[in-house]
Amino acid sequence: MRVQVRNILLLPIFFVLAIAQEKELDWWETTIFYQIYPRSFKDSNGDGIGDLNGITENLQYLKDLGIGATWLSPIFKSPMYDFGYDIADFYAIQEEYGTMEDFDRLIAKANELDIKIVLDFVPNHTSNESVWFEEALKGHEKYYDYFIWEDGVVDENGNMHPPNNWVSVFRKSAWEYREEVGKYYLHQFVIGQPDLNFRNQDVVEEMKNIVRFWLDKGVAGFRVDAIAHLFEVDKELYGGRFPDEPLAGNGDDDPENYGYLDHIYTKDQDETFDMVYQWREVFDEYKGKDGLTRVMMTEAYSSPQLTMRYFGEGDREGAQMPFNFVLISDVDGSSTAAEIKYALDKFLTFKPIDKLSNWVAGNHDNNRVASRFSPEMVDGINMIVLLMPGIAVTYMGEEIGMVDGYVSWEDTVDPSGCNTDDPINYWTASRDPERTPFQWNAEQNAGFSTGAATWLPVAEGYETLNVEVQSVTERSNLNVYKKLAQLRTEPAFRHGRYESVAFNNDVFAFKRWRNGEIYVVVVNFRGDSYTIDLSYFENVTGQLETIVSGIQSPKNAGETFEASRVEILGSESVVFKVL
Ligand code: GLC
Repeated sequence: MRVQVRNILLLPIFFVLAIAQEKELDWWETTIFYQIYPRSFKDSNGDGIGDLNGITENLQYLKDLGIGATWLSPIFKSPMYDFGYDIADFYAIQEEYGTMEDFDRLIAKANELDIKIVLDFVPNHTSNESVWFEEALKGHEKYYDYFIWEDGVVDENGNMHPPNNWVSVFRKSAWEYREEVGKYYLHQFVIGQPDLNFRNQDVVEEMKNIVRFWLDKGVAGFRVDAIAHLFEVDKELYGGRFPDEPLAGNGDDDPENYGYLDHIYTKDQDETFDMVYQWREVFDEYKGKDGLTRVMMTEAYSSPQLTMRYFGEGDREGAQMPFNFVLISDVDGSSTAAEIKYALDKFLTFKPIDKLSNWVAGNHDNNRVASRFSPEMVDGINMIVLLMPGIAVTYMGEEIGMVDGYVSWEDTVDPSGCNTDDPINYWTASRDPERTPFQWNAEQNAGFSTGAATWLPVAEGYETLNVEVQSVTERSNLNVYKKLAQLRTEPAFRHGRYESVAFNNDVFAFKRWRNGEIYVVVVNFRGDSYTIDLSYFENVTGQLETIVSGIQSPKNAGETFEASRVEILGSESVVFKVL
């Protein structure tokens, strides 16, 4: 009897201990980051191009979705050869997007709504119309050394050729000749994007000052563009000339294709990681001043081992979010449930134990979820992105299941599409389809713009696939998304553990649990129906309550099912809670 009384008395102490163990999470660890491609989000002045005021006016939409931070693709002054990733002035706003006052208003409104603004930092290159490059061409030595120059190769007939076989990510030689200086400059992306020389300390300082300028303006961090390309091999190790890259040997036999070569001298160089850690030091200077963590997201399509190095090394910290691109690079609509599980486990397996994972299913460089998987899989993918352990990232439009737009060869503007020189197959390389205007409503230009024309055509089907229609349709991708965004604030999703399984070729499921609260998320990637025994998962027994169901599901919230025999229909996705 005495023992029992003691146990009862101890219970609340155990409870308090369990709660106390709950680590307090910082803003970026629990939020959803929503990527806005400013050119396509909302045009406030009728010129057919999205702008800053369009974003400011619609921040409430993000708030209503349950979003706490947004990262914006570049808004800086640019001739737009790569739609803003070619920056002519890192300190100025592109005129068609607005003014610095508009930017300040955006920040003010975002602060009011408690939405963090994250900008795109593009350190690898400038625009060929930047003052730095123009000064370099004039022979100004300081700025000449900001870029990567190399002599051409002259053949026996006296013809000049590029220094070596390096190719641009967007096809063709990565070298461009400039008569003014009699040399070639390196551009790993378009001709209008000369690579910066990060072996020059002035460049390093210049870029840190740019970071400081925008942090002073109130931004909460940066997405770092094309980071894997930052350094090239030190040519002094190769007799003063950049060596040819070896052939990839992967069957790609077009020497103009990026995939033709193995990029051992232009990608993933060791020095890159040190630079990321240096930027983190700048971020932390700011945190030291006001306590707010500035977040860094790094964009690298690299191996998991290399991706993890962005987190930091030894006692040096790096990016909090090296982008986890598995849902983009490793799987698509043809993947089996086992392949999905394998891909999702990758980052979780490789990441350091004290770091968080992040989940990204779309961005402005890759086809949309509804097109890469299928429109039926939109809710299932959103369940994965929002309910897996870690940080969620959503590309604008994925919450309503936008599809890739059709953009004819004539209308194609993306350099990656144009550089194919192929009016038939250009669409396989073009990134215009995932950049078509955001679909707000069924009005002209999907409510994106009141202008006569938009910079890219609006995708077909916007009359029914848009925010307005989905807001008033009870079962819509948008309403499912909102419920998921709310659900992810539960302790089981914030702090809970994770286990997953492929029940068969088509059905993938995962369990999240914390302090006796257990959820199971089931996603059927194909059209066949199955009866699934969810009691495979430990402690998943008895009755399950439907918490959120995708639009393909006939199950209603609150309906209960026997854990050992749950009927899962084709393309159905459901979140259950163990009663
Ligand atoms: C990144 C951007 C892409 C851009 C490239 C060059 O991959 O996401 O849009 O074209 O870098 O800056």
